[in-house]
Amino acid sequence: MKIAVLVSGNGSNLQALIDAQLAQHCSGTIVGVISNKADAFALQRAKQANIETQVIEHKVYPTREVFDDAMHQQLLEWEVELVVLAGFMRILSEKFVRAWEGKMINIHPSLLPLYKGMHTHQRVLNTGDVFHGCTVHYVTAELDAGPALLQGVLQVHQHDNVETLAKRVHELEHVIYPQVVEWICNQTIQHQAGQAFYKGQPLLKPLQLCQM
Ligand code: GAR
Repeated sequence: MKIAVLVSGNGSNLQALIDAQLAQHCSGTIVGVISNKADAFALQRAKQANIETQVIEHKVYPTREVFDDAMHQQLLEWEVELVVLAGFMRILSEKFVRAWEGKMINIHPSLLPLYKGMHTHQRVLNTGDVFHGCTVHYVTAELDAGPALLQGVLQVHQHDNVETLAKRVHELEHVIYPQVVEWICNQTIQHQAGQAFYKGQPLLKPLQLCQM
């Protein structure tokens, strides 16, 4: 399966996917990385791994739709079958999302449907939640709301702050994202008519990996 990874920043999740591929834990191939930021460190990670990169800067395009069209064309050129959003910090147009529905996944630093949007670690601390984590989900037009596939769950410790939670959530992300990508590549997870399936059964709630 040909995979493209879309990034905006550090790219530690991209690195986890590259490492899984190098360790032959991924039956797919990352054929390209697109960044909407020219200075994203993720681009260096891709180059280091000899993966083709493209910078498609949103700010040089007049509208979201035209920017998304440029990405769409690149994905078609690479003959991409799975789009992996890994810290890609742009909202995608409905047309783009529909074109890639069932073929595009995202990772979000919270236990969705809790804490869609930004600043998830701070919001968890403000609420005093006992559990926190991250979610891999199919992307739909509604932000952070598509069918959830796998969650990494951790217990919030008394001494946790935004930095420690961010670090602990990242560590979980680096485990669950390559796992889901592999499940999609080997068809353990499939998508049909807006619904996710795991081993042929409808996935009514996300699978969970708990790390207390
Ligand atoms: C990750 O924590 C990911 O969950 C988050 O951005 C970070 C990217 O880190 N994504 C979102 O917040 C999307 N809503 P990385 O660049 O080191 O992979």
